[in-house]
Amino acid sequence: MKQIKISLVAFLVLLGSFAHADEGMWFLMFIDRLNQRDMQKLGLQLTAEEIYSINNHSLKDAVVQFNGGCTAEVLSKDGLLLTNHHCGYDAVAELSTAENNYLKNGFWAATKKEELKPQSLFVRFFVRMDDVSKRILDKLTPSMTEAEREKVVNQEIALIEKENNEGGKYTVSVRSFFQGNEYYYFVYQDFKDVRLVGVPPESIGKFGGDTDNWEWPRHTGDFSMFRVYTDANGNPADYSVNNIPMKPKQHLTVNIGGVQENDFAMILGYPGRTNRWMPAGGIEQNVKFSYPAWVEGSKVAMDEMKKYMDQSDALNLVYASKYAGIANYWKNRQGMIDALSKFGTAKSKAIQEDKFNKWANKPANKEKYGNVVANINTFYGLTNEKARHDNYLQQLLRTSSYGTISRTLGKQLIAFAAADATTQAQMRPELAVTIKGFFAELHLPAEKDILRAELALYATKSVGYAIAPSVLKINGEFDKYVNSLFLLSVFTSEEKLMAFLDLPSEGMITNDPMYILSDDLILHIGKKSDEITKAQNDFTSSYRLLVQGLRDSKLAPIQYPDANSTMRLTYGKVKSLPADKRSDAKANYYTTMDGLIKKHKAGDDEFDLPTRMLELHKQKDYGQYADSKGYMPVCFLSDNDITGGNSGSPVLNGKGELIGLAFDGNIEAMAGDVIFDPKLQRTINVDIRYVLWVIDKFSGAKHIVDEMDLVK
Ligand code: ARG
Repeated sequence: MKQIKISLVAFLVLLGSFAHADEGMWFLMFIDRLNQRDMQKLGLQLTAEEIYSINNHSLKDAVVQFNGGCTAEVLSKDGLLLTNHHCGYDAVAELSTAENNYLKNGFWAATKKEELKPQSLFVRFFVRMDDVSKRILDKLTPSMTEAEREKVVNQEIALIEKENNEGGKYTVSVRSFFQGNEYYYFVYQDFKDVRLVGVPPESIGKFGGDTDNWEWPRHTGDFSMFRVYTDANGNPADYSVNNIPMKPKQHLTVNIGGVQENDFAMILGYPGRTNRWMPAGGIEQNVKFSYPAWVEGSKVAMDEMKKYMDQSDALNLVYASKYAGIANYWKNRQGMIDALSKFGTAKSKAIQEDKFNKWANKPANKEKYGNVVANINTFYGLTNEKARHDNYLQQLLRTSSYGTISRTLGKQLIAFAAADATTQAQMRPELAVTIKGFFAELHLPAEKDILRAELALYATKSVGYAIAPSVLKINGEFDKYVNSLFLLSVFTSEEKLMAFLDLPSEGMITNDPMYILSDDLILHIGKKSDEITKAQNDFTSSYRLLVQGLRDSKLAPIQYPDANSTMRLTYGKVKSLPADKRSDAKANYYTTMDGLIKKHKAGDDEFDLPTRMLELHKQKDYGQYADSKGYMPVCFLSDNDITGGNSGSPVLNGKGELIGLAFDGNIEAMAGDVIFDPKLQRTINVDIRYVLWVIDKFSGAKHIVDEMDLVK
């Protein structure tokens, strides 16, 4: 094991010099060795230490993970945060009512006192990371089964977490990289008093809606602003009126000098998931089985939701955020099917695997690697039909508020029933809030339609794999079944649930028909035949060996680990896509306010604009935010390597100053999560000058701009 580790490191160092500038989600602790020289050639004026340091303040201290799934950056000495509109969307919807509809009309706090606290929203600061590969891998032997391996790894992880959390001050997370060939731990500090400072109206923040989503040219002002609060000593604290704005270690300087093609651009953030080593069989499975089911399952639920959302502002607010999340990946997955098919990605991966297999079957490698490709293909062959089945079922679990009720509210109520009287009294207030919150986020008639439609789709389309027993029993009578389910279950009545708190009994939950359905579906999706269990064990170890072998054999020149929601740096340039007749600018790397106004469609769901925007455009009142060439910029492109989770990440120039806010990728490059194409793959950013113009000129919230450090 030890020797292998050393050769991996040597390999990394060796390849460092011919890295693609644009491809790569780099680990911060290695950029001095792997990337610094390349970055400086491209225009970086900082040292690696100024980007990531564990002893001094560095850029990484100004970048946070936002509510678990997005990125945000600190823009002032008072803890002001910038992230995407679509990242703050759920919080804004929660804070909105039909009367005070911030989602629709926007919101700006005139003073800090007016900033609004959503129920739950947290940000995570990154303190440091370190390599624990040797420590963990030394505990493992090649003969262990995957389950044994996991057990040993988890024991070691628990120790590492305990050693580094400083008595609970920090959250420590140990993650596997390169498919289990390396391990690193990450130390974080979480803050949970985060308040809304301001947000543009949805017609700006989500301009272009799902039609423009994942597309370029783009004109979306996809941003919102928050603020982190701490206790009087600067420590994380629950919400309190006595909390004060955070005094951060570092905040970003904002540069309004403008961007030009080929300018250096780097992004720090939290990319969620990539699969750049995914074998051909996995791509084939996704394209033919998993994603088509995903796309169909989410569209069915979207159509049911939309029927109700169109009825009133109040109903729209109930489902807007959920709908946007489902629609986002509905379009993404279809884009992936199209791109992966068009570019024959599975085929090019299969060619690479053939080469690997020849290398793997050379006498020196055969014992370790000989079965790798065969095991991988056996697994995919055995699980294609299950993958289709699982995806239909997952869309049900994800789109119906009742899908996972047995693991969420149901589980909490069982624990409540089992507790003694004193504990119950302690649990009760929070449970009552949870129950109220649950009903605030759904509309029963809509839920009935969603569940009925999803059950019917799942039952009829999951051909080739046995469906869950409880769905088989429905025998096609979905209408009748769902009607009686909603009539009989306690989970469909706030009154019944509140009454349960007065007289709790475990049996009432475990015998509830909704609980039983949810429990059965979840157990069914986790169930595997002995044959699949064995194939999966072989697959997991073979996939790990494939990655190790591809790197050892130098057949795959990938030097950075797959994204897994840990902080990464990607760097490259501001860069155009080939000319496009839809483009409204002189070069196809930016868009302008003229182009935005050209897209305006009065009364449209997605392309309407506030009257004030049209007026300001007529007056050409762009202030200090106009480009030196006279136009008002809106969005721009860079060739950085990002994925979901990077949303809200800062785009920085060579001095580490903020020039934009990353918010999307382009549909032509949707194969990007499994294969990076430098010709096509771009990051779509809002120009920081447009963000500031919307805050200052459009919203009249100049005091927020004044809080920032601006340079030109
Ligand atoms: N595609 C963007 C992302 O995944 C989200 C955009 C949200 N907008 C929307 N119209 N659904 O980061």
